[in-house]
Amino acid sequence: MADSPYPELKKSHVPERMGRPWTDHKPPPSAPVWAVISGFGSFHVLVAALELGVFDTLADRGADPGGPPEVAAPELARELRVSALHLEALLDSLAVLGLLERAGGRYGLNDAAARYLTRDGAASMASLVPVAPGPLENWSGLADTIRAGRPAEPIDDDPAGFYRPLVEGTFATMLRAATRADLQVRYSAMAAPRVLDLGAGGAPWAIAVLKACPEATAVINDLDGVVEVARRTTAEHGVADRCEFRPGDFHTVEIEPGGYDITVLGHVCRTEGPDGARHLIARAWEALRPEGRLVLADYFVAPEPQWSPHCVHMGMAMMASTIHGFPIAAAQVVDWLRDAGFEFLRLLEPIGHQYAYVACKPPRSSRGAPWQNISTR
Ligand SMILES: C[S@@+](CC[C@H](N)C(=O)[O-])C[C@H]1O[C@@H](n2cnc3c(N)ncnc32)[C@H](O)[C@@H]1O
Repeated sequence: MADSPYPELKKSHVPERMGRPWTDHKPPPSAPVWAVISGFGSFHVLVAALELGVFDTLADRGADPGGPPEVAAPELARELRVSALHLEALLDSLAVLGLLERAGGRYGLNDAAARYLTRDGAASMASLVPVAPGPLENWSGLADTIRAGRPAEPIDDDPAGFYRPLVEGTFATMLRAATRADLQVRYSAMAAPRVLDLGAGGAPWAIAVLKACPEATAVINDLDGVVEVARRTTAEHGVADRCEFRPGDFHTVEIEPGGYDITVLGHVCRTEGPDGARHLIARAWEALRPEGRLVLADYFVAPEPQWSPHCVHMGMAMMASTIHGFPIAAAQVVDWLRDAGFEFLRLLEPIGHQYAYVACKPPRSSRGAPWQNISTR
């Protein structure tokens, strides 16, 4: 391949990827190390662009995403009231990351930016991006966390303070996953399902079911101080009058045995450690009536972790910030679900990077109460 004087055309055959072809011994590429080093900066470039309103401002100009880029950096800098020189560097960084279109010194939205990074994008992740890694300080202290086996300042010390902004940020993406999951779970075909959403956050799963089934009702649980988010989101989606809000610890909050058609554990098992996760599965079993279904959404690590890099990373993120957080393995979850008595397990990926097991409580199960043998910690 001919070398190119233009850096943007050299992405795939620079020496850090290919080694130096004219030496006898080719050292291994350093590209994976450089990718990690630039990962830190890449995250902050995107967060800064969102904070400055780069994507929304470009969207407001009404240009076609993917069409010819129209705005030069100085013009955009005037609109955003920022330094033109610095903005240009930021815009070039976004273009390198594939998050903006750049041609002839002009910039515009590409399809990915329009869909995921504008506030009104069809699948906006604009509020998710800044909160997704958890508290950034905990990443700087990761080596100490691994030495000590727990973070110095776990989010468990102030769960509401951490989870409120997190669930506000994740809501749109989770609602999209939960709504799309109906294509496979088919709750919209149920007459009047009763839903229990434990650790519901903004209650994306309960809302998806309530919107799909006009006669459905839901019990929505979360911690005091977080359940307010669900009160707001359910009102915004016009389903609050069919919800009962039940604040409290999901390990101990009162649940009517056999009272529910669908129980949801949405991204709550990964924070709880193996014993806590099994206890939640046992509580879900207890809550369901025969033929009821558990939806357990999380980032499940594949048998060979390198097959599921995103899930490994999300497990690490939990471990970096919580006392019991752990990378939850798909094989473990399957064992726990089967041990509890669940049958007909299916793993769904309703949208990219979002996974959920759906498991059925068999009709007239003869099993005892599995939760009796599991301690919460
Ligand atoms: C990662 S969020 C998931 C929110 C929502 N289920 C979803 O799928 O988007 C975890 C949620 O569990 C809640 N939570 C954490 N510990 C809890 C506990 N002991 N009892 C009840 N809720 C808890 C948090 O407040 C937060 O809303």
